[in-house]
Amino acid sequence: MRTESTPDATSLEAIGGVEVALLAQTYGTPLLVLDGEQLDASIDAFARLQTESGIEVSYAAKALLFVALAKRIAAHGLGIDVCSLGELLTVERAGVAPGKITLHGCGKTDDELQAACAGRAGRIVVDGLEEIERLAAMARHGGCRATVLVRVNTGLEAHTHAYVRTGGEDSKFGVPLEGVAEALAAIAAEPALHLEGVHSHIGSQIFEAGAFVENVPLAFDAYAQVLAHAPAARTIILGGGFGVDPHPGGERFAVDAVLGDVAAAVAREAKRRGFAAPQIGIEPGRAIVARAGTSLYRVVAVKQNGSRRFAIVDGGLADNPRPALYGAYHHPRLAGRASAAHVREFAICGRSCESDRLVDALLPGDLRAGDLLALETTGAYTYSMASNYNRFPRPAVVIAERGAHRAVVRRERTDDLLRNDVLGDA
Ligand code: LLP
Repeated sequence: MRTESTPDATSLEAIGGVEVALLAQTYGTPLLVLDGEQLDASIDAFARLQTESGIEVSYAAKALLFVALAKRIAAHGLGIDVCSLGELLTVERAGVAPGKITLHGCGKTDDELQAACAGRAGRIVVDGLEEIERLAAMARHGGCRATVLVRVNTGLEAHTHAYVRTGGEDSKFGVPLEGVAEALAAIAAEPALHLEGVHSHIGSQIFEAGAFVENVPLAFDAYAQVLAHAPAARTIILGGGFGVDPHPGGERFAVDAVLGDVAAAVAREAKRRGFAAPQIGIEPGRAIVARAGTSLYRVVAVKQNGSRRFAIVDGGLADNPRPALYGAYHHPRLAGRASAAHVREFAICGRSCESDRLVDALLPGDLRAGDLLALETTGAYTYSMASNYNRFPRPAVVIAERGAHRAVVRRERTDDLLRNDVLGDA
C-alpha cells in the first residue's frame, strides 16, 4: 500500500455543510466526523441493491458501530452482523430486531452462544466443529433452538493484505471444505439446530472482482452437502470485503457490477447442479462506512529533524492504528484555512511514544502548530479499532449533515480511563 500523498493544495473547509473549524472547536480533536448525507447515500445504495437484486445485505458492524449508526442501518432495512456481546448490546439498544441480527465469530464464547440461543440473534454462523458441539450441548440442556449457517473456508486466497485475509490454507476461519461433511453431520444429529445454509468470506479490502466469482463454485461444493442434509436450506452468504480505494480520484470498486457477476455465477452453478436458486447474502462493512468518515487533528508541533520535516498531530496510533498495522493510506489535507504556500514534504506523525507515522504528505509549506489536518476515508475500522494506548481518551464521533451537527459518541474523558482502575492501596 502507498503511504506518500500526491500534492493537494485544496484545503478542507467543511463536512456536511459544517465548517471543520467549528467542529474542531465544538468537539475538540482528534475527532471522527461522519458526513451524514454520504453515509445515508451509501447505506441507501445497498438498500436499493437489496430491493432490486433480492440479495440480502447485512452490515458488518465491526467496521464501525454505535447506537445511532445501527438505527440508520436498520431504518434502511439492512440486517446487521455482530461478533461480540458488545456489538450485540449496541444493536439491541438501537432497537434492531433479533431476526435481523447474525452472530459471527471464530472463537465464540458460551455467553455469546447462549445469547443467540436465547433468541437475541436470528442466526449463528458457526465456525467449527467444536462450536457446533458446544451449541448442541446447550440445545440439549437448555432447550435452545438455533438457526445456523456453516462458515466454510473454501481455500481461496484473495490478493489482499495478509492481516485481513480470511480465506486460504493459512487462515484460522471457518471449516475447510474437507471438514464440511463432519460439521454437517454434527448439526444434523441435533434436531434443535436448524441448518439454513453456508457462509464464505474470503477477506477484506479486495479489489480483484474475479475472486468473488471464483469463490462461488467452491462455496457450492459446501452448499451441495448442506442440501443433502437439509433440502430446505436456501441461503448462501458470500461475505463482504469490497475494496475502498482511499486515494483521491481512485478507482471505485464497482460493487453492483461485481454482485451482478456473482449472482450470475450462483444462478449458473445452481442450474448446473439442478438446485433451486438460493438466497444470496452479503455482509459489507468498509464499503458502507469508509468514505463517509474524516478524522480531524490539530497540529501540535512542526519540527525539522535532520532532513525530515515532521508535523506531530494530537492523535496517532491510539485513535488511528491502520497505517501502523496495515500500511493503510488515509489522504491528508490541510483543514480550516486555505494556503497558497508551495507544498513541501512532511512526515505526519502521531503523538504516541513511538514512531507512529500516519502518512508522508505533500502539504503547504507554511503548515504550523495550531493548524487543523484532516485524514480522509477513516469511516471504517479506525474508530472501531481505536485504543487507549498512552492513556489517551478515545475521540468523539460526530455526524455533520445539511449544515447541522451532533455528537453520536461522546469523547472519552480522562476520568473514563480511571473508571476500571481499582483504587486504594495495592
Ligand atoms: N464478514 C466477515 C465474516 C468478516 O470477517 C468481515 C471483516 C466482513 C464481513 C466485512 O468485511 P469488509 O466489507 O468490511 O471488508 N481491520 C481491518 C479489516 C478487517 C476485516 C475483518 N473482517 C482493516 O482495518 O482494514
